[in-house]
Amino acid sequence: MDVKQAADIIKNGGIVAFPTETVYGLGANALDREAVKKVFRAKGRPTDNPLIVHVASSQMLLNVVRSIPPQARGLIKRFWPGPLTIIFPASDEIPIETTGGLSTVAVRMPDNITALALITEAGVPIAAPSANKSGRPSPTSVEHVKEDFPDIPILSGKHSRHGMESTVIALDGKPRILRQGAISLKQLREVIPNITIAEQNPERPESPGMKYRHYAPDRPLILFSPEQLEHMKLYVKGKDVIILCKDRYAKEFTGQVIKLGSTDKEMAKSLYKALRTKREGEELVVLGTEKKGHGRTIMDRLERAATKSY
Ligand code: TXA
Ligand code: MG
Repeated sequence: MDVKQAADIIKNGGIVAFPTETVYGLGANALDREAVKKVFRAKGRPTDNPLIVHVASSQMLLNVVRSIPPQARGLIKRFWPGPLTIIFPASDEIPIETTGGLSTVAVRMPDNITALALITEAGVPIAAPSANKSGRPSPTSVEHVKEDFPDIPILSGKHSRHGMESTVIALDGKPRILRQGAISLKQLREVIPNITIAEQNPERPESPGMKYRHYAPDRPLILFSPEQLEHMKLYVKGKDVIILCKDRYAKEFTGQVIKLGSTDKEMAKSLYKALRTKREGEELVVLGTEKKGHGRTIMDRLERAATKSY
């Protein structure tokens, strides 16, 4: 399928999967409530979990928001197009289906030529969650999208360069990160020195998606922090498990090992694919990473995916 065909689907109220630099998205016209409902139905997504609206120009941004907080300008200049999602007051153009009933809207401009071409060709902002069934690991390739949605048309493009979702931030009141993601706290602090990671009330988080189980593989996931390496070695001994760890730890284990790369960036990029492994094994046992830089986002995802953590 080419960009023109995918754009026609969007214009006609249909849904289509498309690549972004973070993960694949499942898109619909953000201004069309019936189209947006199709996305929720296909994913099995709770209706109170709002979608991110993807734009390709500042004109499109101006159409979907009521106002732009002053601090947003510097962030947009630095990080767009890119994996930063900013919460704005929503304009009247945006139906409540897209915002999950909130008066705000989450917007980002993706850094992927296919995605930008699709939005431009469709001529409307595209609402898109990650193109996975609700609760499953996000897709970083066409194959992953097909696993979850065999019948949905896919516009293919480059593999997702980051492999982690965008960072979601709010700027009303105290600047804060609602969902950690591909842009690290450190990078954001270069523009907004006082930004923090929001304290989330687990029952009523500001970012509604954060209350649901996420990124879960098809079998139990047991997570060990790097300090627990010795404990993990004992835990996996003689068990039928698949081990996920950075390259340098692979030699510590016998049995099935999936290597996740040598840096946190590489680990972020390869993690979701590894969580979707088809290999035989009763559990996935993961050696995590330090909670700094991109390691924070990785550990956030792993803790949400884990059945048990040590
Ligand atoms: O990288 C990404 O962000 C990918 C690609 C496709 O762009 N999309 C993605 O969407 O991860 P999704 O639906 O899986 O996650 C959207 C997150 C959820 O945690 C949701 O609750 C939050 O953004 N969100 C959306 N609108 C919001 C709003 N108005 N206020 C607070 N949080 C919001
Ligand atoms: Mg998602």
